[in-house]
Amino acid sequence: MKNIKKFAVLGHPISHSLSPQIHLLFAKEFAINLEYKKFDINKDNFFESINRLKIDGYQGLNITLPLKNAAYEICNKLSERASFSKSVNTITFLGDNIIGDSTDGRGLINDLSNKKIKIKSKNIFLVGAGGAANGAIYDLIQSKPEKIFLTNRTFTKAIEMKKYWNSFAKKNQVILETINLDFSNKLYFDLIINATSSSLTSQHSPLSEYAFNCLKDEGACYEMMYGFETPFMTKAYEKTDSVYDGLGMLVEQAAASFNIWHQLVPTTENIESYLKSL
Ligand SMILES: NC(=O)c1ccc[n+]([C@@H]2O[C@H](COP(=O)([O-])OP(=O)(O)OC[C@H]3O[C@@H](n4cnc5c(N)ncnc54)[C@H](OP(=O)(O)O)[C@@H]3O)[C@@H](O)[C@H]2O)c1
Repeated sequence: MKNIKKFAVLGHPISHSLSPQIHLLFAKEFAINLEYKKFDINKDNFFESINRLKIDGYQGLNITLPLKNAAYEICNKLSERASFSKSVNTITFLGDNIIGDSTDGRGLINDLSNKKIKIKSKNIFLVGAGGAANGAIYDLIQSKPEKIFLTNRTFTKAIEMKKYWNSFAKKNQVILETINLDFSNKLYFDLIINATSSSLTSQHSPLSEYAFNCLKDEGACYEMMYGFETPFMTKAYEKTDSVYDGLGMLVEQAAASFNIWHQLVPTTENIESYLKSL
């Protein structure tokens, strides 16, 4: 079809991705004629695939697991956010340039805001030190919580994460602290975010009951995964009804990518419930 704008999402596995449905819904709102495909690409054929899609006239790509760091490496221009996070989930082809941005953090913050969960001056417990945690922490810090507690199964990675982000946090008057997964000191959290992929491989919550007991009465728990109730969510429900999965984050990060490509702000309000009905 003539004048069709071409976009795609790359990752492995990719068959489950909801990005095509989301972007087509956004496009419909503005009567934009676009196609949005998904390609199962692994690290070995990533660079070659990017160059082929660029030559084939694609205007932009979303990048998901496990390619966000490889995408960061391939871009010759980066947003500050992507540069800090060393993660790219949104590529724009412009002339000879491959421009990288990261919208995961904005997706999380916008979804928390939709759900009336406040970050400013709050105590956040961020669990995980992989791509998702590092992709989200830039925006979390910019939302000015009081403290962010960091932890990870491989604790040295949480320590490295603190070291890496500490000066940015200090610049924003945010305190970063590391705590062990099995900590037992008395702490209070307003929000616990599970940024691990533990439910892909484990039947158990990555956090102990003790950690959930440190959640304030009006606190909330956020699971970045979506599609099913994870062990983290089940444990969280024992403590509070304010438990959310990452579907809203997915929609909001897509909206932020859409905004980068089309300079338009799509309506996200009913998309989460539509996706749940599929
Ligand atoms: N909703 C959204 O839009 C959205 C966006 C991005 C990511 N996500 C989700 O976020 C999750 C993490 O993604 P990622 O990119 O950060 O993956 P990643 O880079 O592979 O990192 C995985 C993280 O999970 C931890 N982990 C894995 N298995 C664990 C277990 N059994 N117990 C405790 N910790 C465990 C790892 O700890 P070690 O360092 O010890 O291995 C690491 O911190 C994924 O489930 C992804 O689907 C959602």
